[in-house]
Amino acid sequence: MADEDTGPILITGGTGFIGSYLAMRLLEKKGNEHEQVLLFDCNPDVRRLTGFKERYQKVSNRITFVQGDLSSLELVLALFEHKPKSVFHLGALLSAGADANPTLGFQVDTLGTRHVLEAARIYGQRQNMDPVKVVFPSTIASFGLFIAAGQKVKNEDIQVPTTMYGVSKVTSERLGEYYQRKGDFSKSWVDFRAVRFPSVVGAARGPGGTTVYSTLMIQQPAQNKPYEAYVAQDTRLDIIYVEDAVSALIQLHDAPKESLKRRVYNIAGIRNADGQAPQASDIEAAVREQKPDASITYKVNQQLSDTVRSFGVLDDSVAREDWGWTGESFGLQKAVRAFFDDVKNYPDRIKAIELY
Ligand SMILES: NC(=O)c1ccc[n+]([C@@H]2O[C@H](COP(=O)([O-])OP(=O)(O)OC[C@H]3O[C@@H](n4cnc5c(N)ncnc54)[C@H](O)[C@@H]3O)[C@@H](O)[C@H]2O)c1
Repeated sequence: MADEDTGPILITGGTGFIGSYLAMRLLEKKGNEHEQVLLFDCNPDVRRLTGFKERYQKVSNRITFVQGDLSSLELVLALFEHKPKSVFHLGALLSAGADANPTLGFQVDTLGTRHVLEAARIYGQRQNMDPVKVVFPSTIASFGLFIAAGQKVKNEDIQVPTTMYGVSKVTSERLGEYYQRKGDFSKSWVDFRAVRFPSVVGAARGPGGTTVYSTLMIQQPAQNKPYEAYVAQDTRLDIIYVEDAVSALIQLHDAPKESLKRRVYNIAGIRNADGQAPQASDIEAAVREQKPDASITYKVNQQLSDTVRSFGVLDDSVAREDWGWTGESFGLQKAVRAFFDDVKNYPDRIKAIELY
């Protein structure tokens, strides 16, 4: 069997929030008993993985941790000595971190992506193998200006982001498409595939960002702590449960390349019965089904609340058409139930991480 079939799956940002769920899914999936993952992250704290306790113990011999910085091309090139067969490039500074330090944001989020693409290209060409798949999560924040509040954002709507985070995501999308198109007629440099997520909720998400209330409103009550939301009760937000976000990454990775008419796809979040994204009060109601006496109060920060209200909601019809994305399987109640279970079963995973 060629190396390309046996190497590990590389996940950059692999000890982060989404990375840890993705790693566990890839390792625990039926039929994947021989799969290995290589988790690259600058953060040496691996509690989001080890906190899965006996689940982690069962798969730990198939996990390799490598600490390093995406902004170093040398380190990213060295990663490919492990001969990864696919890459999920999740490592990034999120919106608050990238905009608190835009230079670092650019280095990690834009140059980091370029380093991953370039290292994947060089490795694939040297091995004379099929182009390496690089799967990348972009964001609803890549749209920015010219999206009216609550607007359904189409896959090809104009992207005019207002933050370093959003600018870096759009740049990464376009760079990925470039690496996809280059090469001779039969071979791309890299097999690039990307999703654009709404706000991802789940246990042990980092504390930063304007939309974090959607996670903390569930996580704090699940830990028997009070939560004061900074948005009004009727604020709507496009949110997706982390397990569905992981499914979208894997489903796009596995999609036959002939089905991909484009390389970047919107993924929509949870919808109420009326087709609208959930309000803060809907999340609260779902939490109260799990914990009727949850202490949830509201003290509106007008600026943050207005920012959240200004976001659109993603239309994922082309992902459904092109590669058969089936949409979210965790509605609000199911997502909150699963979230509570994770907090209860794996309390060590929840920790306040430093903002970069
Ligand atoms: N959480 C969301 O709502 C959301 C929405 C859309 C897209 N995304 C994207 O999904 C990916 C994962 O996000 P997450 O929510 O798991 O965030 P996270 O912060 O938990 O994970 C990102 C990881 O990247 C690592 N990292 C940061 N700088 C690095 C560097 N210089 N070198 C190596 N590693 C570095 C961090 O240590 C962290 O573990 C990111 O690319 C993010 O932009 C997230």
